[in-house]
Amino acid sequence: MVYAGRRGLSELLSIDKGGDDQSKQGKSKRAPLEPGTVSPPRPVPVTIPRPPYAASGRMPDWDARPQRHDAAGLEKMRAACRLAAQVLDHAGTLVRPGVTTDEIDEAVHDMIIAAGAYPSPLNYGGFPKSVCTSVNECICHGIPDSRPLEEGDIVNIDVTVYLNGYHGDTSRMFAVGQISDSATRLCTATTEALMAGIQACGPGVRFASIGNAIQKVADSYKFSLSRTFVGHGVGTVFHAYPHILHHRNNEPGRMEPGMTFTIEPMLCEGSAKEKFWSDQWTAVTIDGGLSAQQEHTLLITDSGVEILTVSQ
Ligand code: MF3
Ligand code: CO
Ligand code: CO
Repeated sequence: MVYAGRRGLSELLSIDKGGDDQSKQGKSKRAPLEPGTVSPPRPVPVTIPRPPYAASGRMPDWDARPQRHDAAGLEKMRAACRLAAQVLDHAGTLVRPGVTTDEIDEAVHDMIIAAGAYPSPLNYGGFPKSVCTSVNECICHGIPDSRPLEEGDIVNIDVTVYLNGYHGDTSRMFAVGQISDSATRLCTATTEALMAGIQACGPGVRFASIGNAIQKVADSYKFSLSRTFVGHGVGTVFHAYPHILHHRNNEPGRMEPGMTFTIEPMLCEGSAKEKFWSDQWTAVTIDGGLSAQQEHTLLITDSGVEILTVSQ
């Protein structure tokens, strides 16, 4: 992963500073995240098909039907997910000190419309930009703005595209220059947590197995998990049931072949409780501790699970 930088996984796992000195030091050196200026929404050519909420800016109710697809629908779903992954790869190449999240938004927006797709976040419940960029203590739903990325920041870029009537949704963490060992450890744990959640999936398996697998990883690192933000069915709609909880739970429901949904755990070094900025989107940890997230869109197959948000 990008944030793993120069260290191998085994080296990272062996780091044990008790978490405290390092993260306190990191926290005190790091200025709290503050809102920048948000540029106007970027235009989408009229020729590009839009999701139903694009015009109204209303937040659609979550669709009650699980997202399942026939062969033709699945091909479109695969294409949307592949595009989302390609856009995320490209966005990641832009991450460096001095680049604003608004510049990342512009690049993401332009690449999505060049592919004939619509950037799903744009005007979803009034969200003003085309991608979510969540820096440091931002848990999720950060709005791209004029703030330049700073050496030592971690940033989640969350790309969702709407292509040929289907949404593909994926995010991961990027390091801005050199980051602290504690930030690296948080990002590594987040990848491990997502992968454990994915490995728990398969036909007939309880959805609750996902959160149980993720919780084990978070516990082993002594990181907390956001319970507010959940994974979701995704397909012809951006968000559908079932809720995919990322913490230990006992919810009913089992996975069936053909279903598509996301897993997107958010791990926090301190409290996983959030407060919202006045923009009503940006969710930051109440204690200012770092938060990291990673997300894939998945397909349940007859024999297991497939990650759809891969770039090739
Ligand atoms: N991509 C986010 C998710 O994983 C949703 C973003 S909604 C937005 O579900 F409006 F904030 F963009
Ligand atoms: Co999602
Ligand atoms: Co997402």
